[in-house]
Amino acid sequence: MYEDLQGKVAVVTGASSGLGKAIAVRFGQEKMNVIVNYLNNPDEAEEVVTAIKHAGGDAAAVQGDVSKEADVAGLIEAAHDRFGTLDVMMNNAGIQKEIESHTMSLADYEKVISVNLSGTFLGSTKAIAYMLEHGIKGCVINMSSVHEVIPWPHFVHYASSKGGIKMLTQTLALEYAAKGIRVNNIGPGAINTPINAEKFADEEAKQEVLSMIPMKEIGEPEQVASIAAFLASEQAGYVTGTTLFVDGGMKLYPSFRAGKG
Ligand code: NAI
Repeated sequence: MYEDLQGKVAVVTGASSGLGKAIAVRFGQEKMNVIVNYLNNPDEAEEVVTAIKHAGGDAAAVQGDVSKEADVAGLIEAAHDRFGTLDVMMNNAGIQKEIESHTMSLADYEKVISVNLSGTFLGSTKAIAYMLEHGIKGCVINMSSVHEVIPWPHFVHYASSKGGIKMLTQTLALEYAAKGIRVNNIGPGAINTPINAEKFADEEAKQEVLSMIPMKEIGEPEQVASIAAFLASEQAGYVTGTTLFVDGGMKLYPSFRAGKG
């Protein structure tokens, strides 16, 4: 637990499931006030709100599409109206869909870019504008992926969006460091969430993923949420412009593990 987080205000996008849900609940355990953004599942969002209140924080569910500018502005306004400020912007919402690149339409490509990359741009820049206007030394945390550095066939839109988030984060971190606003990424590997449910239900596909993880385990959402809490806290007060990978070693070229090259 990080005492300095108590009473701080966060927006978490895509917070009705998976990593966003785990992060929102962890923020609740830190006794933070959380805007629980959801796209189209209000019941699940309300369950997250209840869990946060149960843990000692406060929360409100707010619908919004992160690829729409007015909706993202609405999330910041909701934090201000409901809790009086904004300290932590957690841009978590993201989508993926397997398509061979040579058959991928521009619409398929732009859909993923608009949610993952443009949504992160909107959340980051609108949060920073609010923090500057109100003199807040806050932080932005963006949900990247190991695919900000690992190429991923059939997911060129996704890998491009996460590679873009890497440079978006570094640029904003540099631009606003002197204002006391920190901007960082979390880079998960393979985590047990709905985005992977179909793949992990297939034992062969799951074993294939495990073979790419030196620690031989699929990660749990709480292991990512603890990194979000750390990055939001003063314990990470000198950390900006970096990606903290949470991947069981996935980026370590596991095929080299036998020492043959
Ligand atoms: P998920 O599918 O449970 O979560 C994604 C959430 O984003 C959902 O709640 C969905 O409703 C929401 N969302 C989708 N489009 C949206 C939009 N336009 N506006 C607002 N919300 C929207 O899957 P998961 O795993 O929790 O994904 C969360 C983030 O973590 C994504 O950015 C994903 O790329 C990233 N990630 C996940 C990994 C994993 O292994 N689970 C690995 C690396 C990154």
